[in-house]
Amino acid sequence: METFEIELESFLKTILPVPELYEFLLIAQNLSKKRGEFLYFAGGVVRDYLLKTLYKKEIERVKDLDLVLQGDLKSFLKELLKKVKGEILFESQFLTYKVKIYLNGKKFLIDFITARKEIYEDIAKLPKVFPSDFKDDVLRRDFTINTLIIGFSPPFEGILIDLVNGKKDLERGLIKPLHLNSFVDDPTRIFRGIRYKVRFDFKFAEEFFLALEKCFKKEALKKLSATRIANELKLYLNKEPEEKLKELLETTFYLNIFEEAGIKAEKENFDSVIRLLNELRNELNIKEREKFFLLGLLNPQFLEQALRLGFTELELKEIKKNIEFIKKYSKDWGRMSLWEKIKFFKKFSPSYLLALAIYFSEIREEVIKYFKEYRKIKPELTGNDLKDLGIKKGKEIGELLDLLRRKRIEGKIKTKEEEKDLIIQFLLKKSEN
Ligand code: CTP
Repeated sequence: METFEIELESFLKTILPVPELYEFLLIAQNLSKKRGEFLYFAGGVVRDYLLKTLYKKEIERVKDLDLVLQGDLKSFLKELLKKVKGEILFESQFLTYKVKIYLNGKKFLIDFITARKEIYEDIAKLPKVFPSDFKDDVLRRDFTINTLIIGFSPPFEGILIDLVNGKKDLERGLIKPLHLNSFVDDPTRIFRGIRYKVRFDFKFAEEFFLALEKCFKKEALKKLSATRIANELKLYLNKEPEEKLKELLETTFYLNIFEEAGIKAEKENFDSVIRLLNELRNELNIKEREKFFLLGLLNPQFLEQALRLGFTELELKEIKKNIEFIKKYSKDWGRMSLWEKIKFFKKFSPSYLLALAIYFSEIREEVIKYFKEYRKIKPELTGNDLKDLGIKKGKEIGELLDLLRRKRIEGKIKTKEEEKDLIIQFLLKKSEN
């Protein structure tokens, strides 16, 4: 075990997202001293601090403060929340707590973790956890670069503890699992390792490949649940810099992870999926983006594999139906008018339509335009305006609003006045008949 002295005040000032938290941490520190329980920082927050200060890497501000207590965390938090206004929001089966606190009228979320040992009884299944000491807590972790801890109270106040040469691997930029069974225990670590490698521009250590081999041999990725696979892939999209997405997907592909997980990812799709995600950034909500991203990775001939990405049987049926539908129409695509195409696009949910635009490149450009432009074009006149102009309530109003929208899209009318004229002409024609 190697130890180094750390200037705690400068550490805290560097990592804290907001200065208000400083005082809160001092209260927590005093409490741990009074109770004689060891409190420390672990994981990403320590890793990123070292990358920033020792190795001058550009690191975004740390978002998660992982604070670990070697002791009785529940009773610790009860006492802490008598000193600070706040509440426990969530207690997990892994002895972790999400705590909301109020400081100077602002709300903060902090994760507290019990120092724990993990036991994996089954391949790719969640572990059993037991409270333990900081050594077990370090040794249960995924990669050596994530094992460094900084003590916040005695017996290691202001001490950086390095049990497995994590500091050296951080210096050399190496992604190294702690043992060769690491990915058999928890194959999600493979995706995590890929994220760290790509995020920091690091290299995989020899041990990474050996652990991967073991994982493939035991078919652990096949045993990983679809929800957990989907969650890991969604982190590529939501947690990593946008410009790294291609490298993340390609690394996953070349390491054969998709295949081993039972997913036939189509490498040729990656570029167009990324392009559409970027171009339509403001047109989709997070759920729609995620669904499109996952579906877009697949080859439409092997769509069953959507089940390995967390889609339900019902969703799969719907997507397949959509594909049959589009195949039927694609023969006439060239002859369909713009309006007919728009009516056609409207039938699909946004994420499915975009996945179809990946599978059928002939509709792609028009789908993009549909999201960016056509979908937003609406008449200025409202249903009520039409009633005021003398149209009777009911189906006719809907049809006329549709007609106005169509003329707008086709560029035949541009102003509210022109819309009114069109309606008046319609009424005149109707009275003539
Ligand atoms: N961890 C692990 N195995 C996992 C998930 C997490 O060993 N399958 C450990 C890692 O040591 C990690 C810590 O739990 O450092 C916290 O996990 P998380 O918050 O997901 O990652 P961070 O280290 O905070 O890194 P980042 O959020 O920057 O990706």
